[in-house]
Formats: sequence, C-alpha cells, structure tokens
Amino acid sequence: MTTNATNLADRLADNARSVEMFLADLLGDGLLDDEISRPATLLAAMRHAVLNGGKRLRPFLVLEGARLFGGNPQAALRVGAALELVHCYSLVHDDLPAMDDDDLRRGKPTVHIAFDEATAILAGDSLLTYAFDVVAAEETPLSASARVELLRMLARSSGIGGMAGGQALDLAAEREAPDEDGIVMLQAMKTGALIRFACEAGAVIAGASSEDRQRMRRYGETLGLAFQLADDLLDLTSDAATMGKATGKDAARGKGTLVSLHGADWAEARLSHLVAQAEDLMAPYGAAARILIETAHFVANRKS
Ligand code: IPE
Ligand code: IPE
Ligand code: MG
Ligand code: MG
Ligand code: MG
Repeated sequence: MTTNATNLADRLADNARSVEMFLADLLGDGLLDDEISRPATLLAAMRHAVLNGGKRLRPFLVLEGARLFGGNPQAALRVGAALELVHCYSLVHDDLPAMDDDDLRRGKPTVHIAFDEATAILAGDSLLTYAFDVVAAEETPLSASARVELLRMLARSSGIGGMAGGQALDLAAEREAPDEDGIVMLQAMKTGALIRFACEAGAVIAGASSEDRQRMRRYGETLGLAFQLADDLLDLTSDAATMGKATGKDAARGKGTLVSLHGADWAEARLSHLVAQAEDLMAPYGAAARILIETAHFVANRKS
C-alpha cells in the first residue's frame, strides 16, 4: 500500500494507484450502516467524477506529509481519499453551466454532460458529505479527537472561508476584475485552502509539533498559490488535448488572474519565487523533505 519508490514520478504513480483502489472501494455499490440504498445513476455519476484519472496530488501531499513525520499510512490514505472526494466535487460544480460551463474534464465529458445538471449537483453534494464520513469513521486509525480536528479543518477549508468562498469571489472576478491582492486572496481560498489542508493534515495525522504543523501549513499555502498560478498559465499556453480540459477559457470569460494582470513572463518569475519559498520552508527537514521539495518544482513546471 505504501511506496518505496525514491523518485517523484514513481512515487506519484504508486500513491495514485493506492488512492485509486481505495476510492473505487468507497464508491462500490455495497451499503454502509444506515444507508438505505445507493441510487444507481447517482452512484455512476459519482464514479464518473472521481474514477477518471486525476493527478491525485492532494492525497499525495497528505501521504507524504504524514510520512515525513512518521504518521500512520492507512490514516493518511483515508484522509487523502476524503480530500480527493471534496476536490472532485468542487470540479463537478466548477464545470456546471452556472459556473465555468465546461464540457471536458480529465479528457472526458463533464458530469452534467454525461448525465444531467441535477445529477451533477447531487453527485457533488454526495461526494462532499461522503468525505466527512470517511474521515469520521472508526476505520480511520486515529484518536477520536484527531478525527474531529481533521473534520473541522476539512470543513473550514471547503466552506465559505475556503474553497466555496473562493469560488464565489472567482465568479465575481468575471464581472469586476480584482486587484493583485484580491486575486491572491481568492486563489488562496478557491485552490489554496484544500492544498493547505493536504499539507497540514499529514502533520496532524502524525501528531507532529505545532511548529511543524505551522511550517507544513505555510508550505501548503505556498504550493497552493503556485498550483493555481500554473493552472492559469497553462490555460493561456497549453491545449485541451494535453490538459484534458478546455483552455483559453479564462481570457474568453474575462477572468481576472495574475496572468491576465501581469503576463506570462511575470507569472514564470513568480512561480520560481514560490518554489524557492517552498524549498526554504522544507530546509529544516533536510533529505527527508526531498520529495516535498521536488513536488513544489513539479507543481510549478507541470504540463497538465
Ligand atoms: C484542477 O485541479 C482545479 C484547480 C484547482 C486548478 P487539478 O489540476 O489537481 O485537477 P486533477 O485532479 O489533476 O484533474
Ligand atoms: C477551479 O479553478 C478551482 C476549484 C475550486 C475547482 P479553475 O476553474 O481554474 O479550474 P479548472 O481550470 O476548471 O480546472
Ligand atoms: Mg473555476
Ligand atoms: Mg473551471
Ligand atoms: Mg483553470
């Protein structure tokens, strides 16, 4: 279940495989206690949303953060998979006609195209609530207080003060372009909050010190900003075949991003700066943090 690979690409692939298997298990048709039935079409839509080849970066960060501090890998797998459920829900809703109105995601038709809008909304609702179930369950091998702490962190990262609030600001940015601080804040929320959760969760799972926790949090915030900046850059410079989703959409919708504000060269320079910042944050951990440093480079230089 865990990986011994020493290079980042193999490690990402090994972790993605474990996460994929666990997610497929969670989205089977067997019923959990208290479930009355799993309507087949809704379950198929949830599977379409989740089991379709994402990078699984967020679970990877949970697993690697936990590994850095000696946390239980099974707990990290469950928390990472729960976070991936939230992320997939956010993509399903992000693609809806009322939001970004996208037809293609991970190289396949989006959920509202493959099914219908109501099913896409309900698939998102069900994925979000399922995530909390997965963390709370006794099968997550952590103390009850650690599980509650993670649930609270996940709720805050997903809700109005995190991802959902950031999505609201992001849509508002199509009507009135925010200034640089406004864009940084909305990106820290819409994308950064879940990535920050991923990085801090590993430390919480391992019962790391508050100083380590704080450091992982800041690393996650830095990575989150780099991640969305790279996404905005790729929206300008890449193509749908490479990305598995439409590109050129931000400019077409007049969305205020740091790339639209300052241009691609500035964004490249800012990405290098963010990677250097992530490296500084991981420096105290020496060789043990090599994979997390390489992950920062991967996030900034990724092609899809
Ligand atoms: C896409 O996230 C949405 C953003 C926050 C920019 P990812 O690029 O991680 O998407 P998947 O999970 O690999 O498809
Ligand atoms: C999405 O940002 C962030 C989410 C919270 C889902 P984008 O709208 O830029 O993501 P893509 O480009 O559609 O993946
Ligand atoms: Mg969007
Ligand atoms: Mg979008
Ligand atoms: Mg985008």
